[in-house]
Amino acid sequence: MDLSGKRVLVTGGAGLVGSHMADLLAPDNDVLVADDLSNGYRDWVPDDAEFVDVDLTDPDGVSEVVTPDIDAVFHFAASKNVDTDRPREQFDENNAMTYGLLERMDEVGVSNLAFTSSSTVYGEAPRPTPEDYAPLEPISIYGASKLAEEGLLSTYAHTHDFTVWTFRFANIPGPAFDGSVIPDFVEKLDENPETLTVLGDGRQEKSYLHVEECVDAIRHVVEHADDAHNVYNLGTRTTTSVNRIADIVADEMGVNPEYEYTGGDRGWTGDVPKMRLSVEKLAALGWEPPLSSDGSVRKAARQLVERLE
Ligand SMILES: NC(=O)c1ccc[n+]([C@@H]2O[C@H](COP(=O)([O-])OP(=O)(O)OC[C@H]3O[C@@H](n4cnc5c(N)ncnc54)[C@H](O)[C@@H]3O)[C@@H](O)[C@H]2O)c1
Repeated sequence: MDLSGKRVLVTGGAGLVGSHMADLLAPDNDVLVADDLSNGYRDWVPDDAEFVDVDLTDPDGVSEVVTPDIDAVFHFAASKNVDTDRPREQFDENNAMTYGLLERMDEVGVSNLAFTSSSTVYGEAPRPTPEDYAPLEPISIYGASKLAEEGLLSTYAHTHDFTVWTFRFANIPGPAFDGSVIPDFVEKLDENPETLTVLGDGRQEKSYLHVEECVDAIRHVVEHADDAHNVYNLGTRTTTSVNRIADIVADEMGVNPEYEYTGGDRGWTGDVPKMRLSVEKLAALGWEPPLSSDGSVRKAARQLVERLE
């Protein structure tokens, strides 16, 4: 799809990935951001985008922002904790939001949808995991919710003439204090530079793709892949262990802490301790991750440390 000059809706556009997507698209597109600010920030929405504060689990809210003049929807709004203490609400809200968007898009004739799924749909799969790996056996409600949403998208692609791009993200760090491992370490070391508590044994090892590269890859795929349902992994060829993240963050902060471990092979129930996605399909479409996983972690760590100052 040629995006230039198009009117696009970015759901979750006040959050980490959505605000970067809105930033990237705003110079060449007419961008509308819809977000209920439950985990986003009004001042992250670029000045040259329109903003509507709306709860997208509410059909009236969806009708307000999905109108016939929209050419494409970038759907990034979600409740995204893997270890949530409200699993049923998370599953219901995320699926209600996605199903409601699809129904409304169909009603008003909008048929292009980019969706942020996750590596968690693969569960504990062999690595590097390609897009056609099966069976898909998530081990968290978050992963189950993403897989169910992918099923809805696939259905609309194959029976309602939609073009859908599903992005299965590795970990996407950036300048957001959102509770994930890099900001968690930055905040803990800011409070106590002597000792760092690490969840699990520190040997969990995953692939990290910086958010700025992630949104660039999304735009590239939307502009170059034109099947009815386009499924792409977004990640790096390399991984970074939790111990290595601790070293990088400590180095960026100029501290030298002792590490204490909570133990076990994973951070929490439902955590997949080792993840690396195959990015060969993405490479074949002409997009290569410019940074290694370590490079992405360092870039995010540096941005977060700068925000502390
Ligand atoms: N960051 C990652 O590492 C990562 C990894 C895999 C998948 N994802 C997916 O990418 C997408 C974006 O993630 P992110 O890291 O930017 O998260 P984020 O929490 O920063 O952004 C999500 C945004 O959605 C908004 N939102 C939530 N519920 C809403 C509702 N009912 N109505 C309107 N807005 C609502 C929040 O306010 C927030 O601004 C999510 O779908 C997430 O599941 C992210």
